[in-house]
Amino acid sequence: MSQISEPLNSTHKKSDFSCGKEMLDTYIQKQANQDVKRKLSACFVINETETNLIKGYYTLSNNSVASEFIPGQIRKKLPRSYETIPTTLLGRLAIEDRFQGQGIGKLILIDALKRSYEISKTIGSFAVVVDPIDQEAENFYNKYGFIKLPDSGKMFLPMKTISQLFE
Ligand SMILES: CC(C)(COP(=O)(O)OP(=O)(O)OC[C@H]1O[C@@H](n2cnc3c(N)ncnc32)[C@H](O)[C@@H]1OP(=O)(O)O)[C@@H](O)C(=O)NCCC(=O)NCCS
Repeated sequence: MSQISEPLNSTHKKSDFSCGKEMLDTYIQKQANQDVKRKLSACFVINETETNLIKGYYTLSNNSVASEFIPGQIRKKLPRSYETIPTTLLGRLAIEDRFQGQGIGKLILIDALKRSYEISKTIGSFAVVVDPIDQEAENFYNKYGFIKLPDSGKMFLPMKTISQLFE
């Protein structure tokens, strides 16, 4: 499977994006470009070819999680010398209102996991971490097997689990 998303560029119509969560709208409209330029995150979009409307977007960044926050069952299999565990942060993910409920959220999540998995072959990453914006978002990630990290609102999916989708 090849990637269905492409890097955010100036032809994408950012200003029209609305997903029902203001923070995620403002981010793509006003901040995403700057973050990409500053190498703080990479931003990928699925767009409607004829109109260049953004159907959905997500961001990826390098990240780490203190090993004490990894659930015991998983942590006990990791070497003790790692105080922090390298991960990939799927920081934001959103689908435009008009395109929600059509399976694009699932597709873009798989696209983000595929990209993260490919990157993990070059730069080690133990898991993909998400930071759900609210309970609805948490329910969405829960559906796809993300596990809650204790003591933080974040959730994660081990790269080993993700690899089984693509190998
Ligand atoms: C959450 C969101 C990404 C889902 O996108 P979508 O395109 O509407 O979802 P899809 O149509 O691809 O749905 C895929 C599956 O997830 C389910 N689903 C969608 N939203 C869900 C939610 N909030 N909780 C639980 N399941 C959900 C669907 O019912 C569908 O299940 P099915 O395959 O068994 O029928 C989208 O509603 C959105 O952008 N919301 C606002 C931003 C947000 O909350 N982002 C989350 C990360 S911070």
